[in-house]
Amino acid sequence: MHMYNIIEKKKNKLELTKEEIAFFVNGYVNDEIPDYQMASLLMAIVLNGMTDKEIVALTLSMANSGDKLSWKENSVDKHSTGGVGDKTTLIIAPIVSCLGCQVIKMSGRALGYTGGTIDKLESIRGFKVQLDEDTLKQQLEKLNIAIISQTKNIAPADKKIYALRDVTATVESIPLIASSIMSKKIASGAKNLVLDVKVGSGAFMKNITDARLLAKTMVMIGKEAGIKTVAVLSNMDQPLGQNIGNQLEVQEAVSLLNGNGPSDLRELSITLASYMVSITKNINYEEALKLVVEVLQNKKALQKFNDLVSSQGGTLDLDNKAKYQYKVLSNKEGYITKMDTATIGKISGLLGAGRLVKEDKIDYYAGIILNKKINDYVYKGDLLATLYTDKEIDLRNDYLNCLTFSNKKVNNNIILEVIR
Ligand code: URA
Repeated sequence: MHMYNIIEKKKNKLELTKEEIAFFVNGYVNDEIPDYQMASLLMAIVLNGMTDKEIVALTLSMANSGDKLSWKENSVDKHSTGGVGDKTTLIIAPIVSCLGCQVIKMSGRALGYTGGTIDKLESIRGFKVQLDEDTLKQQLEKLNIAIISQTKNIAPADKKIYALRDVTATVESIPLIASSIMSKKIASGAKNLVLDVKVGSGAFMKNITDARLLAKTMVMIGKEAGIKTVAVLSNMDQPLGQNIGNQLEVQEAVSLLNGNGPSDLRELSITLASYMVSITKNINYEEALKLVVEVLQNKKALQKFNDLVSSQGGTLDLDNKAKYQYKVLSNKEGYITKMDTATIGKISGLLGAGRLVKEDKIDYYAGIILNKKINDYVYKGDLLATLYTDKEIDLRNDYLNCLTFSNKKVNNNIILEVIR
């Protein structure tokens, strides 16, 4: 088999075989295929696409390229394609684990505006994100939940291919994105999976058509790999909830588990958790929804979150200790109808909440609390948001520039579609 012929075949829009796909994935990860040939093939895939058969073969080859974990039948995972203010894992994981679903979440310290789940948990004093195998096993037996940092060598082929895509303008391809995400999920070993595919100004997928296609492709891959998979398309035209930033997001998650919290975050968390419970326990959605609402109301989910924190060595302190708080006041009147969510995320990052390179240090207290969101009516002088930071940087005007006002409300549902 020759890489040249595989590139030529894809250039001519012919279907690659399972063997050809395994050949280039393994060859690339073993440094036998050079970057220039791989880049050429990736560009041919971006331009000519892949059939479902090819997508499944690519995903499985990448999933098989490193460590493969396998958890129990009642194990469940959730994946979000990434958004601003997304702290749903902190809420959902304790809810579903109270209901007999096993959650072993291995999260990364992703580069981004607000840090990943692990960074959020590390904002809790003393919280240990690394557990040795025995401790992990004991905690799972006792609590049915663990959230730890990724230490295994999960899908190294995806890691290497993704790094090449990043510098060769070949990220934007539904077959490549879907296989990349699903290869990691398959190798991580949960038997049930709910995907939160974000759509809008703060998301990777800017429009519903692309998001729907991505969701359908990932659900198809999940099924072919024997994982029960559901995808929820959710709105990311504004930040999720009110708080952005690591410690501020933990604060909001706890508030929600306590029965408070904003309605968009509540609705999305309940929906995702209900699908997780429904597929894992083989019960219908309405039954699962009832159970989810019950463990929120009777505070069992809050207790589970507290147990998780203390079992992993953390002590919750919900006071924000940022040195500066800049209040953003409105200079306009009307309904907020648009929020430039990606830029709001960047502002949060500049305040100190994220990292652009691996070496950057996160300021756990930095971030934003939003007082007004889409469809809120605002008068001149109203408090729109507070920016928390240890830096002397005034980003209030940048924040104001992210908002659009009008005299009419707009459509603003949080749940857009469900794909099974
Ligand atoms: N996230 C991933 O993990 N892979 C992609 O290709 C895009 C986003």
